[in-house]
Amino acid sequence: MPLLNEGVRDKILHAIETPAGSRFYKGANNAWRSIAGPFDGQRRSRRIAELERIELEGIVNQEQNVGWVTPDKFEKFPTAALGRHQVLRGLQEAIGARTYLEIGIDNGASLSYVDVPSIGVDPAPNITYDLGAHIQVHLDKSDDFFAKPGAVDHFDGVPLDFAFIDGMHLSEFALRDFMNLEKLMSRAGVIVFDDMLPRNDLEAYRIRRTNAWAGDVYKVMEILEKHRPDLLLLPLNSNPTGTLLITNLDPSSRVLDENYDELEAYCTTPDPQVVAPRWKHRVSAVDPRAVIDSGAWALLRESRGAADADAVIDKALAQLRSIPTVS
Ligand SMILES: C[S@@+](CC[C@H](N)C(=O)[O-])C[C@H]1O[C@@H](n2cnc3c(N)ncnc32)[C@H](O)[C@@H]1O
Repeated sequence: MPLLNEGVRDKILHAIETPAGSRFYKGANNAWRSIAGPFDGQRRSRRIAELERIELEGIVNQEQNVGWVTPDKFEKFPTAALGRHQVLRGLQEAIGARTYLEIGIDNGASLSYVDVPSIGVDPAPNITYDLGAHIQVHLDKSDDFFAKPGAVDHFDGVPLDFAFIDGMHLSEFALRDFMNLEKLMSRAGVIVFDDMLPRNDLEAYRIRRTNAWAGDVYKVMEILEKHRPDLLLLPLNSNPTGTLLITNLDPSSRVLDENYDELEAYCTTPDPQVVAPRWKHRVSAVDPRAVIDSGAWALLRESRGAADADAVIDKALAQLRSIPTVS
């Protein structure tokens, strides 16, 4: 079965591709437009042939840099005030996390400013930042990491307060990352997902087509909304592709494990992906600055070890729920 349906194939045939993996997307594209002339069609056809040969396995193992095409226009959404690293930095401080775990660390930028015992998981990082001895890096795919005995021994028995999921951008992987992480979290812990608010459908394709790739991880938000109404889900209007903050975690919940086969089938619907307008327009998203500045974090910190932890956590959740949406 071809990986591309005819509509998508036509779209791609009419797009101008960038050289694979190019960081100079616009420049390269413009330069190509000016010189390519009659060879354009030939080159596009070759790229399509390449795209049709890609197996999902290639993406899973390598995030193969193949098949970039001109992105569709972005949908309209309120301007975001903070980038994901600013969000993470602000939350790290506000949460007062005792421990931190990040899945998908790449060059270590988002890990580098954490100053508590931390674990980074990535099978193929490209670390260029100084990471101190308090940060342990595991060169594993996240599924393999969680299956290792003693995976989080580095935390010395302290439960996990803060985690960031930014590894493989396919929803079934991100869902499993969440399921595995939640079991390790403290009651007042927080999990943040990157790439939850793709800016157009193309950015959400499972087979990477665009420079900034959100993939179809937004499906995890839909799954959690439906199957885990006990969680507090706060989509954050952050640059570039939106983040999702989750709290009121329940390490004892097995709802997702029990329904995993059905959920995986939902996740793996092949391209093209059609992202609901509410995600693309960010209608339920909140300003991350309001979240970082919320009084909820003081309450959540206070709840650790408190006899009336559940009551204090409820007060914090009410504060987070009262933050207005950006639209
Ligand atoms: C977008 S980058 C992470 C960026 C980083 N968190 C930051 O904000 O600076 C995604 C990373 O996920 C890693 N990755 C891909 N598949 C993975 C998997 N199955 N488990 C863990 N990491 C994975 C890739 O090697 C890549 O370095």
